[in-house]
Parts: sequence; structure tokens; C-alpha cells
Amino acid sequence: MQTAQYSALGEAARRFIAEKRRLLIDGQWVDAADGKTFAAIDPATEGEICQLAEAGPDDVDRAVKAARRAFEDSKWSRMRPADRERLLLKLADLVEANTDQLAGLESLDVGKPLFLARIIDVHGTVEFLRYMAGWATKVEGRTLDVSIGIPNAEFQAYTLRQPIGVVAQIIPWNFPLAMAAWKLAPALAVGCTAVLKPAEQTCLTALRLGELIQEAGFPAGVVNILTGPGETTGAALVAHPGIDKIAFTGSTGVGKLIGKSAMDSLKRVSLELGGKSPVIIAADADLDQAIQGAADAIFFNQGQVCTAGSRLYAEQSVFDRVVAGVADIAKSLKLGAGYAPDTQLGPLVSGEQMERVLHYIDTGRREGGEVVTGGARHGGQGYFVQPTVFTNCGPNATVLREEIFGPVLVASPYRSVDDIAALANDTSYGLAASIWSNNLSFVHRLTKRIKAGTVWVNCHNFVDPNLPFGGFKQSGLGRENGRDAIDLYTETKTVLMKI
Ligand code: NAI
Ligand code: MG
Repeated sequence: MQTAQYSALGEAARRFIAEKRRLLIDGQWVDAADGKTFAAIDPATEGEICQLAEAGPDDVDRAVKAARRAFEDSKWSRMRPADRERLLLKLADLVEANTDQLAGLESLDVGKPLFLARIIDVHGTVEFLRYMAGWATKVEGRTLDVSIGIPNAEFQAYTLRQPIGVVAQIIPWNFPLAMAAWKLAPALAVGCTAVLKPAEQTCLTALRLGELIQEAGFPAGVVNILTGPGETTGAALVAHPGIDKIAFTGSTGVGKLIGKSAMDSLKRVSLELGGKSPVIIAADADLDQAIQGAADAIFFNQGQVCTAGSRLYAEQSVFDRVVAGVADIAKSLKLGAGYAPDTQLGPLVSGEQMERVLHYIDTGRREGGEVVTGGARHGGQGYFVQPTVFTNCGPNATVLREEIFGPVLVASPYRSVDDIAALANDTSYGLAASIWSNNLSFVHRLTKRIKAGTVWVNCHNFVDPNLPFGGFKQSGLGRENGRDAIDLYTETKTVLMKI
């Protein structure tokens, strides 16, 4: 269904959704073996965007085998690293040249404001691809001394880092294009081959990326893209014996399932999971900046961010002012379709996600929390939820403990460094935290004590291709980005030579 308001998406995006979309297997775009399809949905209107192929077990098998052949094929595995780098740089150029189309598709599919899709999602992806391209030529081992006690024998020892092989990459719906790049680029840089499964809610930009991968000249089978639900397509991919490593971003529950299943055959696994990240505002902070930062930390991408600042802790003396400030910003945000002009907050990605978030809001109320602003669905069509701020939630309130993944903030006061360190760490998650203060001693003391993969100071939600990203505790396993991402897709081989 193509409505008049889609004109803002641009001609190239509209052209892309005019056709049924297919699976990328072994360099060919094909229908699912059993012909099954499902619909891509516009979260702002609840209308169908287009039909997508639903990959079944046969398609998964063909994709994994194609990736295996491509991995063993000398065209890919023995390609010079500099040539892999060039392919990735070419891909980055193509993504950049198609910015309007990709931003339009992302905005439509996820519901995010068009200008943010352009700056954050597409431009961020271009930068990420260029950064990771550079790693292709920089994979290195070490030379090592040995102490083996054989008289008159001399040894030479070194390590090689080699590609793990065929990787299954399963990604979520909050930053579909960027997540595809975070997964594919380091794997391709080191010479792995991939089967990528985008989230069933948001397949469009991954499929367009597949076309650009072909256009860039990657050999057939190096990247395969399967669309379909997690419980069927995703589960078949995870269970396939031809997979050497699984890289997953999504819910902690599914991450644990995947981790357990991976252990059956000791597949390598890296997991980037949920969070319940604290935003900590000290009384000495630049409060205007901190209040805006706290609002952005939770409302950016409608709160559908693994590092969303969903727990706000403000020092007692400034608590009321901070809460009132964040609530004022929440009230001022203009809700609308991502592709409508001046939208600041889009819909949630799906009806299921909207229901989940509304259910959390109800639970928060029932457990005694006070809604300062928001607290309900917005409008009758589209998956819009009002930006919501809770106070007076007890330490065991569900809304304080569970990841909501929507525009819902829980604010609480704190008194001292000891107090706030304990509160910040009182969670099963450990993905990120931000501290807003200009008191160096306070910042450093707290930074060391917080159990989280990233600590931001006077900012929140900033990620960079060169900075390791991942979680402590139940927020995940392994680190993406930077050199750490290269380690995720390579095995160490020790070579010992008697000379
Ligand atoms: P999910 O974890 O079910 O989905 C993420 C990806 O995993 C999707 O591609 C999905 O198709 C796939 N998947 C689901 N079940 C699978 C299985 N059994 N085997 C293999 N793949 C499977 O997340 P969902 O249901 O979309 O959202 C639920 C909650 O998860 C959200 O409310 C949020 O709390 C959290 N979440 C966290 C994300 C993060 O970035 N850390 C991203 C998305 C969701
Ligand atoms: Mg799920």
C-alpha cells in the first residue's frame, strides 16, 4: 500500500517497496523454497509496505552451504586483505551515494524521524564501513618466546589470527542498517562469510544493502540475507551445523537461548543484549545540559535503544528540578510518522512492542509508581506511545528492573557516592551508564565502581566505531567495534617451529 504521504521518502525508496522482496542466497535473489511470504508494516499507519520472502529450513540450508562454499573458495579466503578493504570502501561509497533511499526506507520501516535516519543510521553506517575496511590489512599475530626445556634446541613461535569461518548474524529492529554493518563489516574485513538475518519487523535496508554488496563486487555467497521470524528462520540458522559462529543482538532471553544452543556444538558466540542503563545527575552538574541529556538518553529512537538511559538518578537537592525539566521536554516532543515533517518522536516499531510498553506502564502504575507525564497510547492509529516519566517507584518495581524498550523513564533521588554506586549497580544488566557532573573526584570514583561496558560522562548514547561496545553481566558476551570486533571473528592459531 503506497499512500500519498510516502512522497517524503523519495522516489528511489518508493521504487524499492513497489516490489515483493526476496532472499539473497549465493548471489541470487530468490523466493522462499516453499513460496511463503509475510508483510512489512508501516508502524505509523499499521498499513502494509510490501511483501517479503519468509525463509524456511531449506532456504537456511542453502544459504549456509553457499556461505561455506564461498568461505572455502580461494576467490574469497585467499583474496589479498587490501582487496577486501577496497570492497568494503566501495560498499561504503555506495551506501553514501544511496543515502536518501536508505534513510527513506529506514524511516518508513522503523518509524524514526527521517533526519535522524539520515544522520545517525545511514551516515553512521558509512563511517563504520570505512573504519572497519581499514582493519582488513591490520590483522596481526604475535611473536613469542618459549621456555621449553630441551638442551640445545631452539624454537620460533608465533600466532596467526585467522577467520572463524561461516558466521550467522542475527540483528534487531532498532537500528537495522547500522546493526547489519556492525555485524557484516568486521566479519568481511577478516575474511569470514555470513548469513545475515534482519529482524522480521525491519528488513528493508538490509535487503537494499544486499544489492549494494553485489554491486560493490563481493563474490557470490560471501553475504547471504534471509528474512523471516526469529522462532523459525532464526532458530533454524542457529541450529545449523554448518555455522561456526553466531553473533546476536537482541533480547537477553533469546540471547540465553542462542548461547545454550551454541554450546551443543561449541559454536563461537557473541551476544549484545538488553540494558537498564542509569543516568546519574549530580547537583553540581550543568543542569540545563544534564536535563536535555537525560531526556535525549531515554527518548532517542523512542527509547528503543539497548543503552537507553531508562533509570534516572538525580541528587536529592536537584531532583525535583531535574524531573520537572525532563517532563517539560517530554511534553514538548512532537509525535508523528518518521517521514512527516517536524516529527521528533516516531511510533514504536510494532503493535507487539507498543502493547509490551503499555503493559509496563500499567504495571508501573499498579505497583504504586506516579506518572508525572505521559502514560498512555497516543492517537488511535499507528503504534505511538506518549513519552512517559515515572517517580516514586519502589526498588523492586518492575519498571525499574526490566528493560522496557520504549519512551519510559523511571526517576529516583540519591544522596551520596556510596548510595548511587549501589543503586546504579542494582540491576542484572550492565551495558552502559552516564554520569553528569563536573566534580572530577566524584566522576572518577563512580566510574570505577559502575559495572557497565560503557560509562559516559556529560553525554549519553554516543558510540564510535573505534570504541569497544558490549555489556557486563546479563547485557552480553564479548565486545563489538574497534580491535575487539576483529577478535570476535578470528581464531588464534599458535605456530611452534623447532629450528
Ligand atoms: P528478540 O530478541 O526476539 O529479536 C531480536 C532478533 O532475534 C530478531 O532478528 C529475531 O527475529 C531474532 N530471534 C528471536 N527469537 C529467536 C530465536 N529463538 N532464535 C534465533 N533468533 C531469534 O527481540 P524482540 O522480540 O524483537 O524484542 C523483545 C525485547 O527485546 C524488547 O522489548 C527489548 O527489551 C529487547 N531488545 C533488545 C535489543 C537490543 O539492542 N539489546 C534489540 C531488540 C530487542
Ligand atoms: Mg522476540
